[in-house]
Amino acid sequence: MTMLVVGNWKLHGDWHSNAERLAALHGHGAVVPGVTLAVCVPMPYLQQAQQALQNGAVAWGAQDVSAHATGAYTGEVSAAMLKEFGARFAIVGHSERRQYHGESNETVAAKARAALAGGVVPIVCVGESLQQRQAQQTEAVVLAQLEPVLQALQQDAGRMVLAYEPIWAIGTGQTATAEQAQAVHAVLRARLQQDGASSVPVLYGGSVNPGNASALLAQPDIDGALVGGASLVAEDFLAIVQAAATPTGH
Ligand code: 13P
Repeated sequence: MTMLVVGNWKLHGDWHSNAERLAALHGHGAVVPGVTLAVCVPMPYLQQAQQALQNGAVAWGAQDVSAHATGAYTGEVSAAMLKEFGARFAIVGHSERRQYHGESNETVAAKARAALAGGVVPIVCVGESLQQRQAQQTEAVVLAQLEPVLQALQQDAGRMVLAYEPIWAIGTGQTATAEQAQAVHAVLRARLQQDGASSVPVLYGGSVNPGNASALLAQPDIDGALVGGASLVAEDFLAIVQAAATPTGH
């Protein structure tokens, strides 16, 4: 299976630093066989990403998408609008949006459906808090997050991307061990399989860096990475891409 490595820039960047980072990726992106590479940039910079990356091997996308196609929804951006700027992906249901913007599992499911309807691949994020992990609720939490998405997408579920991002590993430098991540990925894969969607790429996210990427990506059910902080440094991001190109478990 092709590996997928996606950078999530979050609320970082400006025109000048973006230009440097995009140029570095554009220069290297074409030469990594077996790996699809993408960056999810803040909305205003989609066109900058499009201009810098077009006709290359690096795809781009957004970090959110509206659940609505059109209408009186101030501040929202539809999938069709993203598509006009060449976006291939939209992250949906990141824990930071669930936490700070009150997005429910049902909202996330509606956004995933709207993304696909508009021709954009949703990267649906699931993940448990530290408290939930300590209470042995990890499996129940991620499955409860996934369920409404599968129901909303029905036979299109196979067209999404799923990302497991344990909240306690995001931005903390405390990554899940390869074994911890693989265990959750296997649960997610089994659930996807029930709906005939076992080929959905399941990415791991949470403090992925050049030092830990190989071990994580070598796991049989880890099909790529969703990278936050390390995606802001082109050489670190490209080192992770390189690790994805030579996994041992796939
Ligand atoms: P970090 O890689 O900075 O931990 O962020 C992970 C993440 O949230 C990617 O979506």
